[in-house]
Amino acid sequence: MKNTLVVNDIKEEEEKFHKAVEILRKGGLVVFPTETVYGLGANAFDDEAVKRIFIVKERPPDNPLIVHIYSINDLTSVAEEIHPLALELFTRFSPGPLTIILKKSKNISNFVTSGLETVAIRIPSHPVARLILKESKLPIAAPSANLSGRPSPTTFEMALKEMDGKVDAIINGGMCEVGLESTVIKIEENSLKILRPGIISEEMIKETLPPHMRIEYVSNKNKIESPGLKYTHYKPEADVFLCEASEIESVSKQFDNETTGYIVYKGKTGENVRNVVRVSSLEEYAKRLYSIFYEFEKNNLKRIIAEKVEEKGIGKAIMNRLKKASGNKKIYIP
Ligand code: TXA
Ligand code: MG
Repeated sequence: MKNTLVVNDIKEEEEKFHKAVEILRKGGLVVFPTETVYGLGANAFDDEAVKRIFIVKERPPDNPLIVHIYSINDLTSVAEEIHPLALELFTRFSPGPLTIILKKSKNISNFVTSGLETVAIRIPSHPVARLILKESKLPIAAPSANLSGRPSPTTFEMALKEMDGKVDAIINGGMCEVGLESTVIKIEENSLKILRPGIISEEMIKETLPPHMRIEYVSNKNKIESPGLKYTHYKPEADVFLCEASEIESVSKQFDNETTGYIVYKGKTGENVRNVVRVSSLEEYAKRLYSIFYEFEKNNLKRIIAEKVEEKGIGKAIMNRLKKASGNKKIYIP
């Protein structure tokens, strides 16, 4: 167990905040908020610091990390041969939840990229993440701040629960606005590959593409292209099942008990069914998904039944996480 420095409020505890940035500069590990999820950060130039991320997260060494930078001007310190389309996409969507795979610069630790020739780059928009990047003047390698395989923390409480005692500092930035990890893309000659869907959707990206470029999704089967895809992800301790909106009501009558929780969007539940969380938009579904998992887990629920959504726009990212969290299990209705 480590003595973790906890920064509750970066304005009221300014000195502690500067100390956390100093820790990062000296090779320590700092958990910080981004607009998507909390990240577990280390100096992306420092082999030893980056190695510790993998140990703390119990992350397989062949699953590379995302490098966070402050602005487009910093791209040349982390990547080479920057594709004009990458510049265009960063200009349009950054700072924000878009990650682009580029050719790696030599300075970036090989541990960040798991030995690949490419590096994943993102320019986050969360003000705390931006302040850390600006003050430290470093590119920061940061995966989500969860133990490997578990849902990403989207609140300070979740980040503390996952990482207190394991890292050097944790910074509070409130609840993450987006709630799902960034969209990860790779640009090829005639196509743009979406390695991980996020709230920057296919539809949004398409508007920026020249007409000859196709958009493709890389499925779990293509293990080489996006190393992260082959591992189980986003899985809370409770068993997650997916359910159509139209079936929620009958299912909820059948499984109304202390150990079952519901996430409902358009469907109805039976009257007075326990443990129901309603979301009223896809944005809210995305933002709250992992924190609902966390609250249900805290209340010792053993089964979570989540309403499916249409796989369009943000719905594509929500369903991607729900399918992985559930192993695509559907609830059985006799
Ligand atoms: O929103 C996010 O992206 C958050 C915050 C903290 O920025 N980070 C995050 O990192 O979700 P992580 O490590 O949980 O997911 C990184 C994903 C993995 O699926 C990994 O395989 C992929 O990015 N990735 C990283 N480098 C890659 C590369 N060179 N080629 C292909 N995929 C890569
Ligand atoms: Mg992750």
